[in-house]
Amino acid sequence: MKLLGSGTSGAKIILTGEHAVVYGIPAIAIPFNGVMTTVNIYKTEEEITIDSRFYKGLYQDATQIISGLKSLIKKLIKEFNLDDYGYHFEIISDIEPQRGMGSSAALSVATVKAFYNAFNIKLSNDKLIELAMFAEKIHHSNPSGLDVYTLVYEKPVWFIRDEGFKTFDINLDAHLVIIDTNLMSQTRTSVEAVKKMRTSSPKLITKIFDEISLVSCKAKEALKNNDLKTLNKLIAINQKLLKELNVSSEIIETTISRAKTLGMTSMKLTGGGIGGCVIGFTNDLAVIDKLSKYFRNVWVTNMGGLNEG
Ligand code: PMV
Repeated sequence: MKLLGSGTSGAKIILTGEHAVVYGIPAIAIPFNGVMTTVNIYKTEEEITIDSRFYKGLYQDATQIISGLKSLIKKLIKEFNLDDYGYHFEIISDIEPQRGMGSSAALSVATVKAFYNAFNIKLSNDKLIELAMFAEKIHHSNPSGLDVYTLVYEKPVWFIRDEGFKTFDINLDAHLVIIDTNLMSQTRTSVEAVKKMRTSSPKLITKIFDEISLVSCKAKEALKNNDLKTLNKLIAINQKLLKELNVSSEIIETTISRAKTLGMTSMKLTGGGIGGCVIGFTNDLAVIDKLSKYFRNVWVTNMGGLNEG
């Protein structure tokens, strides 16, 4: 088997605005390269095969679980005018699936990059976004695009659906702490639930969305102005509002409470919710040490690293 090319992508973390972002409310997300997905494309003399954590075998028999990837490969094979034969796709990833870290978007981005790398074609960010969004729409019916934009631009992103996005520099002397609840998030289900709530309780939803909008606006300023105290207050407000949207859960609330007893000021869910990860900010290394000892999966990233370039 000859390696033709590879593509990689990191993960993303939504800091504020998830769910509301689907309806045009501003959200903030950052790239997180503490975990990565790599896609390798090999030339073979056999039927197309896939080797991933969820599926190993013939491409044509691939299951529903990787339907987005399957459709994306099909589309790329067509776009590149390739034979429907003779390739092996190897997917190596330590981005936990369904944890609100953008694992599906990372897989799509890495797959597109791998194709363009394998066949030596220059890939623009616009084209990468277009193709990754194609797969994202299969994964969950109405994606805002926040995940894909953040992974493609690899910068902190201020995102308003259908209006645009801006990358911006963060100036925060603190660490972002990500704690896994070890329960899968359920983005498709929670996005559908918010959609239903929007129909059944439009006034309430408007009120919640307005407040989330304010949280994102103030959080952007706090992130730019090294204002950890305000940011922590906003994280708590965002979590309260996400709870009102019914996308939190017992495991999320318990994880947040436990993290607070270990010294975190505030935490919120990130991404689709129901399960997945919770996030918060601290500059206290002793607290981070306690959290790392108590919880099974904790990731920490220095926000200071995000204000370069
Ligand atoms: O669970 P994730 O990482 O796919 O994030 C979903 C974020 C939502 O705002 C809930 C949906 C979206 O498309 O932005």
